[in-house]
Amino acid sequence: MTAQLIDGRKISEQVRADVASSVSARREQGKRPPGLAVVLVGSDPASEVYVGKKREACEQAGIQSFSYNLPASTSQEALESLIDELNADRHVDGILVQLPLPDHLDPDPILLKIAVDKDVDGFHPFNIGRLVQRRPALRPCTPAGIITLLDHIGTPYKGQHAVIVGASNIVGRPMTMELLLRGATATVTHRFTGDLSYYVRQADIVIAAVGKPGLVKGEWIKEGATVIDVGINRMEDGKLRGDIEFDEAAERAAWITPVPGGVGPMTIATLLQNTLYAADYLHD
Ligand code: GUN
Repeated sequence: MTAQLIDGRKISEQVRADVASSVSARREQGKRPPGLAVVLVGSDPASEVYVGKKREACEQAGIQSFSYNLPASTSQEALESLIDELNADRHVDGILVQLPLPDHLDPDPILLKIAVDKDVDGFHPFNIGRLVQRRPALRPCTPAGIITLLDHIGTPYKGQHAVIVGASNIVGRPMTMELLLRGATATVTHRFTGDLSYYVRQADIVIAAVGKPGLVKGEWIKEGATVIDVGINRMEDGKLRGDIEFDEAAERAAWITPVPGGVGPMTIATLLQNTLYAADYLHD
């Protein structure tokens, strides 16, 4: 392996420590702790793990966490009225509804209902619109966390060609806007892209977020590229694998994120940053 590892665990710990010390400074000024409401509907095992990590990270940083574990049978009306309550609660700076929701619930009206100044996931059309128009407010956590990683290694952005594999609302699309904002040339590929290798071979920065293990072949990676893998795929042997062939990519890349321990921890660290931002700048 010639690439240097981008250690998301270590970088996320630094971010979380910075949030914790800002929270302490707030408290010393006599202000209330920031508060995050985390809403989980049903018992999807992966969602339970993610939500548990988010709540634990809040507590470690001194952010108050309000937990709502609702049964899978929860109605659309009940969930929407909980959002109304949380929007009105002055102790709540951020509201996070873990996705995916059970099939009978429509996520769109729920995400629309979250007050834009409490939308710490950055999924509300208002916050997406702000990002598209180059005036970001609350930013989606995974793409913003990837920017923290890229900044950490001194990515120059301007003049670089970034290829984003996957056009989801949660990662691919907002990631494209974050990179565009910093002066990179951004290409987005998706399920209808004919020859994926044609695009990836040109990339100075490759970001893959599709959830298909090994979709991006290591031999496509340009010498010296930066490789960011958002995929977390559980294999039959129980191991986690990314969307990019790690060993082969690491022979060619200058920088690469591991799975696990790359992007994953940054999503949670950014959620804490967003909650603190909402408390400091949008609510006090
Ligand atoms: N499901 C997968 N990723 C996310 C995320 O970043 N936020 C929420 N709320 N749900 C998710």
